[in-house]
Amino acid sequence: MAHLWTAGLFLICFVHHAFAIDEKFEFVIGKSPIKLRPGKQHTSSIVWKRDGDLVAELDSGGGLDYYGTFKNRTTLDITTGELTIEPTQALDAGRYVTEIDNILQEDGYQVVAVEEVPKPSVWVKPGKDENEYPVVCDGVVDKAGRVTFWWDISGRDPREWIELGRNITLEKNDTTKRVEFLYCKIGNVGGEKESEPYINPFYESEKHLERPSNLAKKKNSINQMEVEVEVEDPWMSLSYVPGTFSLLLFNSLERRLNWTHWRRIYNF
Ligand SMILES: *[C@@H]1O[C@H](CO)[C@@H](O)[C@H](O)[C@H]1NC(C)=O
Ligand SMILES: *[C@@H]1O[C@H](CO)[C@@H](O)[C@H](O)[C@H]1NC(C)=O
Ligand SMILES: *[C@@H]1O[C@H](CO)[C@@H](O)[C@H](O)[C@H]1NC(C)=O
Ligand SMILES: *[C@@H]1O[C@H](CO)[C@@H](O)[C@H](O)[C@H]1NC(C)=O
Repeated sequence: MAHLWTAGLFLICFVHHAFAIDEKFEFVIGKSPIKLRPGKQHTSSIVWKRDGDLVAELDSGGGLDYYGTFKNRTTLDITTGELTIEPTQALDAGRYVTEIDNILQEDGYQVVAVEEVPKPSVWVKPGKDENEYPVVCDGVVDKAGRVTFWWDISGRDPREWIELGRNITLEKNDTTKRVEFLYCKIGNVGGEKESEPYINPFYESEKHLERPSNLAKKKNSINQMEVEVEVEDPWMSLSYVPGTFSLLLFNSLERRLNWTHWRRIYNF
């Protein structure tokens, strides 16, 4: 009988712990607030603690207190018990728990500071298939926490952002042939950043120019390079890759590239 009891208790503890999972909450220092909801509604009092230290307290007499570095930038909603910290600081990271009506709650929050997202750049990789290129939304996001990638391959104004992965496959079809620029955007809890426009390698406008013969000759001497092109204003950096080089140049030239400028730099 005693053994059965032990087994039963063990099971209860195990199940209980299995459900006591901290929720993760990310913030960007100074950029985004920390907003935490208690796991249940309080009736008389609620206390928020971070790594064992008091953050905010609503006592049963209705008194409201904020502690230490949390003073003057923290709000405890006396109705819902929700905690808001803004502006945030590096030391705000940690494990947050509540005591609701004097009972310590098992479920808490792991609050972590993440970095802002970088400004991404669109990178078209040379594909094996000339009608299908892998395209990457490039940028280091290791420390940015949960990130989302959006793409605009619609060619429309205003942009039509679609949430896709970091890598997409761009195929040449009647739709993409009419899209002049590709854009991508990265976002996290701290905000979003958008790439510069990238000339769509499949873009074909209505009127075609003759391919300059001297360009064709020079083409093979250029493998992979980054070039800066004066496109009206501001400056735009384009990455050219083998195979797509002449096409990209051709297309941009056709539209708005300052050909004189190019000729001067690369002696075509
Ligand atoms: C909070 O604001 C009060 C009143 O403006 C000020 O006296 C106090 O020093 C501030 N506390 C902190 C921790 O900044
Ligand atoms: C996306 O493309 C990059 C660059 O080629 C590659 O390193 C990465 O593994 C790809 N990621 C996914 C999820 O396919
Ligand atoms: C054309 O290609 C794009 C991008 O690869 C794709 O999203 C779209 O569905 C394609 N459209 C058609 C009509 O196949
Ligand atoms: C093109 O570039 C050349 C040389 O850099 C410059 O003199 C000229 O003004 C530019 N033309 C236009 C239309 O921007």
